[in-house]
Amino acid sequence: MSELNHGTNIPENERRPTNAPGESGNRKRWGLIATGLVGGSLVALYAVATPFVTPALRKVCLPFVPATPAQVENVLKVLQQRTGTLVDIGSGDGRIVIAAAKQGFRAVGFELNPWLVWFSRYRAWREGVNHSTSFYISDLWKVSFSQYTNVVIFGVPQMMAQLEQKLQADLQSSARVVACRFPFPTWAPDETAGEGIDTVWVYDAKAFKTPRAGSERGTTSEN
Ligand SMILES: C[S@@+](CC[C@H](N)C(=O)[O-])C[C@H]1O[C@@H](n2cnc3c(N)ncnc32)[C@H](O)[C@@H]1O
Repeated sequence: MSELNHGTNIPENERRPTNAPGESGNRKRWGLIATGLVGGSLVALYAVATPFVTPALRKVCLPFVPATPAQVENVLKVLQQRTGTLVDIGSGDGRIVIAAAKQGFRAVGFELNPWLVWFSRYRAWREGVNHSTSFYISDLWKVSFSQYTNVVIFGVPQMMAQLEQKLQADLQSSARVVACRFPFPTWAPDETAGEGIDTVWVYDAKAFKTPRAGSERGTTSEN
């Protein structure tokens, strides 16, 4: 029997054990810690998940779907005879940029999702190619690709027409473009590699930079 129950009128069999001094303070502290942990975890979850979810809310939804190993292999195959700079537009976790750097390219990735950019930098460092790779947190529509001689894109069909126009304006005629999984709508590919979802289409800029006979830009006008 607790000493604290002495002197009360409550019958002994109805008396509840009284908290030891300090016990309610301890409980409050643990309550605060638990609330802090749950709140902190929710904030962290929100911060990590948001960049992966927001692409779905954009006009053109380009989600993070990493290239398959066969896809990466096909990209490298069609770039075997090429040198210089390479850009992966929407570089995801950096796998194409890193693989290209290992093949001797000075390789760059532009990616909207900061977590993927930080992870790509970490991967590049771990795989020893951090000096020949760069990753930027950028919106692909706000970047000029004019300085790159090799361009890789794993996009979605809804964006390819607009990207075709952008690359046509941005790139020099020495550039080569590789489209993964989805081809460009009006350019004629110079080459393809792989099959099914791993297909890549190759476009040499000299073909799409040269105005086609009879096209609006190709027709010389006296007016
Ligand atoms: C289909 S994934 C391709 C990833 C990588 N290139 C690969 O092949 O493994 C497309 C990537 O583009 C990114 N992305 C989406 N919208 C973008 C934008 N406006 N600017 C830059 N990157 C974007 C996504 O976050 C995603 O990582």
